[in-house]
Amino acid sequence: MSHQRKPIIAANWKMFKTVSEARETAVRLKALLDGGPALQSREVLVCPAFTALAAVHEVLSGSGIQVGGQNLHWEDEGAFTGEISAGMLLDCGCRYALLGHSERRQYFFETDETVSRKLRAVLSTPLIPILCVGESLSQRESGRAEEVIQGQLSGALAGVEASGLGGLVVAYEPVWAIGTGMTATPDIADQVHGIIREWLARRCSADMAAATRILYGGSVKPANAGELMSRENIDGALVGGASLDAESFSRIVEFK
Ligand code: 13P
Repeated sequence: MSHQRKPIIAANWKMFKTVSEARETAVRLKALLDGGPALQSREVLVCPAFTALAAVHEVLSGSGIQVGGQNLHWEDEGAFTGEISAGMLLDCGCRYALLGHSERRQYFFETDETVSRKLRAVLSTPLIPILCVGESLSQRESGRAEEVIQGQLSGALAGVEASGLGGLVVAYEPVWAIGTGMTATPDIADQVHGIIREWLARRCSADMAAATRILYGGSVKPANAGELMSRENIDGALVGGASLDAESFSRIVEFK
């Protein structure tokens, strides 16, 4: 973590929690964090299921804790049954949108091309995009992690002017570390984040790369958050399982 970049700690609740469960967790989270020092120095956000977005936003509004969407469609509106647009996320109070999560790529056939369309849709709104990248275990074991991540970055950013990427946030989530308890070591994560930052410097500019927050995701817990965040290139966390419980997530937010 560098002092020039404000860390972002994001909760991804995936397909968990009914509206009342989400509301209850948000109430507890707000009680734990509101008025405390962490919200002064860190950006905190929660990405609930679409059904709970409006309720969670209502609970958290005014607290400094933001709300984000887990996915979106690239069109503004239209006959796309089951989809949600960037404008609809904004309408529910979202400030951020996750894009290209590995579970979307793996189970819902998202490709670099569709992730790129989603990124361009988000960039045309005030939403802040959090672009997820990461290699699978077999890709890492065959020595292709760097190539895979660079391919995902260049695919997602295809056709986007560097000047429009000022607000981009990247999340490195190695697929082998998601939900497995196998956190990437701080050394591995910091090294990959460094590669992502160098790639952004070549593609955009040194200033843009130095200002871009790169989050780590994959089995982040209260016990390992501080050590991960102590690394120069790790600017926050995207937390799945350990974010479902308000106490556990608040301890990650308050990492030392
Ligand atoms: P876990 O924290 O459960 O490993 O999930 C990480 C993740 O996918 C966050 O987007």
